[in-house]
Parts: sequence; structure tokens; C-alpha cells
Amino acid sequence: MSNKYCENNNSLSVRLLDWYDSNRRILPWREDPSPYHVWLSEIMLQQTRVEAVRDYYARFLRKLPTIEALAEAEEDLCTKLWQGLGYYSRVRNLRRAAKQIMDDYDGIMPATSHELQRLAGIGPYTAAAIASICFDERIPAIDGNLLRVFSRMTGYDKDIKNTAAKAAAREYYDEIFPKERCGDFNQALMDLGACICLPNGTPLCEDCPWMDFCRANADGTCQQLPVTAPKASRDIEYKTVFLIYYQGRLALRRRPDRGLLAGLYEYPNTDGTLHNSDISAYLQQLGFSSVRVRPLGQAKHIFTHKEWHMTGWEILADEWEEFTSGRPKQHELFLASASELRDVYSIPSAFAKYTSQIRPDYLEET
Ligand code: ADE
Repeated sequence: MSNKYCENNNSLSVRLLDWYDSNRRILPWREDPSPYHVWLSEIMLQQTRVEAVRDYYARFLRKLPTIEALAEAEEDLCTKLWQGLGYYSRVRNLRRAAKQIMDDYDGIMPATSHELQRLAGIGPYTAAAIASICFDERIPAIDGNLLRVFSRMTGYDKDIKNTAAKAAAREYYDEIFPKERCGDFNQALMDLGACICLPNGTPLCEDCPWMDFCRANADGTCQQLPVTAPKASRDIEYKTVFLIYYQGRLALRRRPDRGLLAGLYEYPNTDGTLHNSDISAYLQQLGFSSVRVRPLGQAKHIFTHKEWHMTGWEILADEWEEFTSGRPKQHELFLASASELRDVYSIPSAFAKYTSQIRPDYLEET
């Protein structure tokens, strides 16, 4: 696709790189852009804002400073370091890919976008980001930012989520991509998308180095672009969640290895909204009796495709008959001390409202 709005593609890239040199965001992974650092940051930045990632990134690298350390780490440690970032399959794949790098690539990250895509969790976007930033490969890293900029620059008015839109964006960027500083060019586009060509509200066109070449700016259609098809509605699931204390410890269980929040830990919970009168029967099933019950209120958590509407209860149990036979292992309850909860078991933020109500007297125990 020729770029109709700029006679000289070279000047587009020069303008953007000049703008980047004076306006680039100072980000930790830009200070020392080793393949491991860039890879980790790109995985963390999927679905998560830059500001939220900073502390996680630093902490992760303090504990697991090399690909080798990551490959050898316990899975529970990796998920613990990820706790709160969500989309936990990302960290599981990260660890799996680190093992692949140790086993199949002598511990050295592959250097082309093609080869990078052989690694677990690395798709076309992440491969392009790593290959361009670390190895100067000339390839656009097409994410939401680049799609939005493309749509406005060219006036592309079909659904931006379609694969056809990605192909059109790729063709567009192929035309204007510089021969050098390919990683800077991708990151300049990311910064342009995040700071100037804003997704919601009015973009800051007056500060944009490409304003004079932008179709949407000329047509006054920035607010209408990009076009996105309405999202499918989410299923709603009702749940009742229990913080059950027994002898100074808290009941937890591991979620199944597959599906939503796979392999993470959770407070015992059941489908549906149990009424006060149903609660002791349910707790009996889990083996708890002589219980005192206190309501913890309602909470909602929104996932990509579903919503959980939860009702929580605090349970102080004086008796527990641990019977495990016949239950699948992952559904087995166990009791965790406060230090285990802090250091070992990852509770997803879907349960944050209840985590924040854990009893202080329990937390004081070591
Ligand atoms: N979003 C995803 N990757 C990024 C990067 N390298 N810099 C800034 N924002 C990003």
C-alpha cells in the first residue's frame, strides 16, 4: 500500500524517530535491553499497563535474574511473582520457554522473529518486538497501539480486530519502516500510541509528529477511528466464597491444571449463591463443623469472557474432619499458615475483596 498522505516515507520515519529521541518514556527495560529483559517486559505488558508493570518487573528480575534461573525455578515461585498481574498462563509459558531455551538453544535466546515463535507463549507480536528491539530486525510489532495509529493515519474504517486489518497495517508499516533503528521505531510507535494517539477521548494531535500526514486529522475523524466491533457479552457466574479458619490456619485449595486461573490457589468456593441456611450443610461436606459464620459482602470480578459475582463468608471452625478419599486431588482442601499464604501460594486478584478481609490475628501468626 503506498502511503497516500506522505510523499516521502523516509520523512515519516525520520520525524517519528526524532520525536522519540526527545520524548521517549524512560522505562526500566529500555535501560538494559537484553533479550531476557525485553522478553519479560513484553510478556508482562500484554494486557497490563506500563505503570502497573514496573514493580513486578524489578521484583521478578531480582528473584530470577537470568533465563537459567527462570528455567530452574519452581512453578509456585513464578506464579507468586506474577500474583496480581493476571493472565497466569503468561508466566507458565515464560518458564516453559526458558526451559526450551536451555534445552534447545544452549541457553541463548534465538535472534529472529521466526525462530522466537517456536517458544511457548511467543506469538507474532512478541517475536517482532524482541527481534526488532534486541536484534534490529525490520519487522513491525503490531499491537493495539500500532493498529490505532495505522487506522487514523490512513483512515482505515473497517473493524480493526479482523485479520484483514492486521495484514493492511503490516503492509502500511512495511512501506514506512526504516532500515535501521527498527526497535526504536516500534517503541516510538508504542509511545506515540500510548501518549499521543490516545485510545479513549481526544488524541493530542497538536503534539503529534505525524499530524500533517494523518488522514483522520485532516478529516476530523480521530474520535470515530479505529472502528471496533461491539464486544460479545460476558457470561455471569455466581459463586459463594469461604474464608475458613481452623486452628490458626486458613483453608485453601489448588485450582485444576486446565482452564481459568489454572493451577493457582483459591479460597474454597462453590457455584451459586448459598443462603445462610445452606452454608452449614456445605461446610459439613467439606468436613467442618461447629462453625461461626460472618458475612464478608459481595464482590465482582470481570474476566475477558465471564464475570464472577461472589458472596463471601468468614467461617471460624472448631472441628475439621479431613476426608479426602474420592475427591480429585486438585480439589483437596488444605490449611495454610500466614507465611505460606504470603510466600508460597498465589491467590488471584479475582478474590482480592476477600483477601483484604483476612483476619489480622491470622496474619500475625508466622
Ligand atoms: N508496550 C509493549 N511493549 C512496550 C515497550 N517496549 N515500550 C513501551 N510500551 C510497550
